Amino acid sequence: MTETVWWKRGTVYQVYPRSFQDTDGDGVGDLPGITARLDYLAWLGVDAVWISPVYPSPMADFGYDVADYCGIDPLFGTLADFDTLVAEAHRRKLKVILDFVPNHSSIAHPWFTQSRSSRQSPKRDWYIWRDPAPDGGPPNNWLSNFGGPAWTLDPATGQYYYHAFLPEQPDLNWREPAVRAAMHDALRFWLERGVDGFRVDVIWHLMKDAGFRDNPENPGYRPGAPEINRFHQVYSADQPEVFAVIAGMRAVLAPYGERVLIGEIYLPIERLMAYYGPDLTGADLPFNFQLIQTPWKAGAVRDLVESYEAALPPGGWPNWVLGNHDQPRIAARVGEAQARVAAMLLLTLRGTPTLYYGDEIGLAHVPVPPERVRDPWERNEPGHGRDPERTPMQWDDAPNAGFSEAEPWLPLAADWPARNVEALRDAPGSILTLHRRLLRLRREHPALSVGDYRTVAAAGDEVFAYERFAGPETMRVLLNFGADARTEPLSEGAWTILLSTRAGRGGEATRDSVALGPDEGVILLRG
Ligand code: GLC
Repeated sequence: MTETVWWKRGTVYQVYPRSFQDTDGDGVGDLPGITARLDYLAWLGVDAVWISPVYPSPMADFGYDVADYCGIDPLFGTLADFDTLVAEAHRRKLKVILDFVPNHSSIAHPWFTQSRSSRQSPKRDWYIWRDPAPDGGPPNNWLSNFGGPAWTLDPATGQYYYHAFLPEQPDLNWREPAVRAAMHDALRFWLERGVDGFRVDVIWHLMKDAGFRDNPENPGYRPGAPEINRFHQVYSADQPEVFAVIAGMRAVLAPYGERVLIGEIYLPIERLMAYYGPDLTGADLPFNFQLIQTPWKAGAVRDLVESYEAALPPGGWPNWVLGNHDQPRIAARVGEAQARVAAMLLLTLRGTPTLYYGDEIGLAHVPVPPERVRDPWERNEPGHGRDPERTPMQWDDAPNAGFSEAEPWLPLAADWPARNVEALRDAPGSILTLHRRLLRLRREHPALSVGDYRTVAAAGDEVFAYERFAGPETMRVLLNFGADARTEPLSEGAWTILLSTRAGRGGEATRDSVALGPDEGVILLRG
């Protein structure tokens, strides 16, 4: 079982490079910074690092606006720095996953400059250009995910171009074979440099309705929600033609061996499953964000896990995510005590976990004063910005938490002098120690990494209980989502507590039942 491919067995750790470690004193993290912290990641016990975009970019959307798919932005370093990072990661048996942003480029990409230069440009069809509606307005009712229309008029050529995000992020036209070929070349460029896979940005957006039909209105829309929700995105994304595009990417990766293709997909479970592709020719891991979107209640989470497991296609490998650079931090959402339960859940469910940097030290919501707002979405639609989950990693109690010698680009959490890696790494009861122990258990026990899953009936409706098992080994996980102590029955026989979210219970033996404190999770081994 140890031969299972690495991306099924392992844990992915997401680094938001602007906020991980600065080495050149500009207040923004960089590639040498990530390299300098690889020992930490190896110590923590993760298996792969996914790095949010580091390509040359005007940074309108902090790197998700790419001006060159085969380079590194000087802010982050050089290609040589990147090669060093890959080599040093591999030396520590860590895989490197790059963020790939194929849906749109930057408005500053030379492809777009050429495309907009004239209607006759050979690159005109590399982007999505349409004539104005009869009244001169946008071609249809599609909206930008960051608010406002998704079409911007180019006065010089008299047509609108489509952008699912900012006007600075024009969508590429994936119906154009030359675009596919250029993007495949970009994938190969990085594969040749040794990257172990890609996280593909907004993969469900790549194909749009060929007829550009209007999206239907969403009668459930409530003002205050992001404007994009005024319509159901029926025609602007998630089109059947996308699966051939994804299969095309998979085919580029195939000759390189065990490389992983992860797809970013915000869709309900039934639609999400389609992204494993016909005969599993789709994404290896269509990102499963359901835990982020489900109420934090034992019953709701249990139902979610069961329906997700049941919906998986044969051979489709599950995965779980609690947070990323676009979502409120888990500790902000569920509180400090439940963040530990959440960590135990993430790292004991069946499927590849992705851990967001900083969650392992319990980083919560960091308030960002108006004058320090950086996220363009916050400027367009106040209240929806993502700065609070993108703040610098807190390493020690040196100035700026050891992140930078300069004022960081986003503020630190107020509690950084106490909440940092240095302070928490040897504290037996810290959330960091808990993550490390969970990751170690996952590595040591195939039942946890590649074993099967089954739900177990729990006595109260505040507890979610399940088993993971492989060969002779059975582990039972009991998670108390409530603030009351409880006693939960166990199946017959002897059980040993391997790990609790509270320090000091490891090794405790029990039969018939186990006592759970408020907000406590435990992992028991049978026998
Ligand atoms: C993805 C990224 C997000 C970005 C958007 C546009 O959702 O995760 O950060 O703003 O795509 O590229």
